[in-house]
Amino acid sequence: MNILVTGGAGFIGSNFVHYWIEKYPSDNLVVFDKLTYAGNLENIKEVLRDSRPNGAIFVKGDICNRDLLEKTLKDFEIDSIVHFAAESHVDRSIEAPDDFIQTNIIGTFNILELLKKYPHIRLHHVSTDEVYGDLPLDKPEVKFTENSKYSPSSPYSASKAASDHLVRAYVRTYGIKATISNCSNNFGPFCFPEKLIPLVITRALYNQEIPVYGTGEQVRDWIHTRDHVYGIDLILRKGKLGETYLLGGNGERQNIWVVRKILEILGKPENLIVHVGDRKGHDQRYAIDYSKARKDLGFEPLKNFEERLKETIEWYKNNEDWWKESKKKADIIAEKYLAQRL
Ligand SMILES: NC(=O)c1ccc[n+]([C@@H]2O[C@H](COP(=O)([O-])OP(=O)(O)OC[C@H]3O[C@@H](n4cnc5c(N)ncnc54)[C@H](O)[C@@H]3O)[C@@H](O)[C@H]2O)c1
Repeated sequence: MNILVTGGAGFIGSNFVHYWIEKYPSDNLVVFDKLTYAGNLENIKEVLRDSRPNGAIFVKGDICNRDLLEKTLKDFEIDSIVHFAAESHVDRSIEAPDDFIQTNIIGTFNILELLKKYPHIRLHHVSTDEVYGDLPLDKPEVKFTENSKYSPSSPYSASKAASDHLVRAYVRTYGIKATISNCSNNFGPFCFPEKLIPLVITRALYNQEIPVYGTGEQVRDWIHTRDHVYGIDLILRKGKLGETYLLGGNGERQNIWVVRKILEILGKPENLIVHVGDRKGHDQRYAIDYSKARKDLGFEPLKNFEERLKETIEWYKNNEDWWKESKKKADIIAEKYLAQRL
């Protein structure tokens, strides 16, 4: 396969590139990435062609630039696209939604328009469970399924919802070859330290205060990136074109539980926690029912949440050089939250 990986220098995309190159060394990967604040070539430097003969080729580019996208598809005879590129941080979307609309909607639209012209290319569109809005805290038996109603709460999730709708419409109207996955919150190596788990780890390692929205009782259903990219692998190999698959990690935990657990593992005191004013429109609970992916693809997360959390903490402890610069940017946002302590 000749695969174009959009957003392959970001958090999940780079994990996908590492995974794929190890598992399918005879495939050709082309990473197409704009290198925004969230994209970092360091994430994939060991798996680029400069470092190994079967490594990925890197093209710096914006998915909003249709001409460059088309040239890349032609130059590398691409037959599959795995589309990760997005603006992905909810808080940033609340502050400044423009880039989310451009990249997540217009960028996806560009890819779809090219697929009308090159119908042999197969697309996998990577999306989020946040398109479904949230679930009540007091009904733990209720989970998202592929049939849940779209009800996004933030500009981020609304832009991802729009991109999902476009992909489905192009499948139905133009017959393009595509699949979609909607996945829960990811954690693992190479996650920019503005997101909850790396934010808590990196600030705790520096003995800094840790902002927690409201009471911290909101529930997220955590999945390790390794399980997410494994799920995408299964969809690419066994998924049915035109279908959507939910991927989850059996990792439902309250945010405050996660924060306390990280502090406990690191041996740091709980008085680093500072409760701050809640996020606008904050979703209360996400939970994924991945029975369809289990039944049709054999998908199952490999390890449990606690094991993966310990591995992730170890990774951040051992890779301070990777995160110490980006932490400075994440700190600016964290300090803004801390100014609204309750
Ligand atoms: N992080 C999560 O918990 C999560 C959960 C479910 C789904 N997703 C989805 O997975 C995908 C990847 O998320 P992530 O957390 O790795 O994001 P990320 O923000 O870490 O990485 C996004 C990557 O896309 C690149 N990019 C941004 N705009 C671009 C553009 N216009 N053109 C080309 N490249 C561009 C960035 O440089 C970066 O490398 C996204 O589509 C996201 O919606 C994420």
